[in-house]
Amino acid sequence: MTTEVFYYSRSGNTKKLAEAVAGALGVSANEITETAELSEKTDVVYVGSSLYAGSPDKSVYDFIDKNADKIGMLAVFGSSASGNSTYKKLKAFAEARGIHVFEKFYNCPGHFLFMHKDRPDENDLKGIAQFARVVRYKSL
Ligand SMILES: Cc1cc2nc3c(=O)[nH]c(=O)nc-3n(C[C@H](O)[C@H](O)[C@H](O)COP(=O)(O)O)c2cc1C
Repeated sequence: MTTEVFYYSRSGNTKKLAEAVAGALGVSANEITETAELSEKTDVVYVGSSLYAGSPDKSVYDFIDKNADKIGMLAVFGSSASGNSTYKKLKAFAEARGIHVFEKFYNCPGHFLFMHKDRPDENDLKGIAQFARVVRYKSL
């Protein structure tokens, strides 16, 4: 089973989650940049993204679009101030490109202005690591 972790993060909250996912899986966490791409078809691609004005960043959509034929299954995680997540939007976008999306997602509070200081915290990182292992186990 092959796994890869990609994330987009402006202030480091989702990066922390991505690193916990990568640590749980024994792979590296890769930042989503304009040139980020999967080198080969991958069984499970974990994509981390937060909400900015109600949506994931455009680069996250672009990454999924460009790599659609290499993503065996997409697993979504992220952080946000409101508790809402990017899951619904990314799921619809990925499914429209024929990508299977894991039925659950992981989202935790992320520090923003005066809200959620110190989140993600240790418990959030434990939670995302557990999510990463469950996704991998269920995909075997
Ligand atoms: C420009 C901007 C817009 C944001 N818009 C939302 C939003 O619409 N809904 C929400 O829940 N959080 C919003 N947030 C909060 C972020 O989703 C939250 O801080 C998240 O943890 C940031 O993750 P990052 O550090 O990985 O970028 C916004 C943050 C910024 C900087």
